[in-house]
Amino acid sequence: MSAAADILKERLGGLAPRLALVLGSGLGGLAEQVEDAIRVRYADIPGFPQSGVSGHAGELVAGVFADTHVIMLAGRAHYYEDGDAAAMRPLLEALAGIGIEALILTNAAGSLQADMPPGSVMLIEDHINFSGTNPLIGETSEQRFVGMSEAYDLTLRAALENAAEKAGVKLHRGVYMWFSGPTFETPAEIRMARMLGADAVGMSTVPEVILARFLGLRVAACSVITNLAAGMATGELSHQETKNMAPLGGEKLTKILGRFLHDSASGRVTS
Ligand code: HPA
Repeated sequence: MSAAADILKERLGGLAPRLALVLGSGLGGLAEQVEDAIRVRYADIPGFPQSGVSGHAGELVAGVFADTHVIMLAGRAHYYEDGDAAAMRPLLEALAGIGIEALILTNAAGSLQADMPPGSVMLIEDHINFSGTNPLIGETSEQRFVGMSEAYDLTLRAALENAAEKAGVKLHRGVYMWFSGPTFETPAEIRMARMLGADAVGMSTVPEVILARFLGLRVAACSVITNLAAGMATGELSHQETKNMAPLGGEKLTKILGRFLHDSASGRVTS
């Protein structure tokens, strides 16, 4: 086990979570709802990412949510921060090291579908990595040749769809295309993305999915749609708009995840 995993295990005491969630924009509120919360600052764990968007320091919140032991990760490293696609690797390795089996990732994204407007939530069924980079470049073990045909776990996807239905929230489905950022896309890039089969675009998640699959974690991911993608609406895109709009879909996704965790407590999701 890594030094980071050792420290984390000690900090968690008797908690034995098998599920971890990465909270994207607009979902930070979910971490506030964790009971008996143990909070660990990323800064206290070697190798954990030190930066974060909008100046928020990263924090790991472990505890009980809907009768389930969980870890919630508020704050993630993005490729655009310093060009390191593997910046989340030590954190994900530590999670795998302490027994996490499933990882649910969330993010903010732009929609390529007019009928999936801001405020929608999309279950990611597959992704397109057209960035030219990969967090496993430089990895030397045979395990680097990770199969990606079912990167997004079918059982977890079904459980999330089920949870959405029970929560009465519409859950779109689609393909997420990763752009490096930090610029937003051009309208021409969005037309290309559409031709390639993308339904949503964003600047995160894909490197983490690749790393998590490499580490043997089961993965699911959801996007909160904050805007129509470049060229689809008038006006310029901005990070401020992302932050303003994220809570709308974030609330819906919080309901879905609450239900999902509740169901997973009865063992139907992760086992
Ligand atoms: N593009 C990339 N990333 C995003 C967007 C977008 O339109 N909206 C929120 N994150």
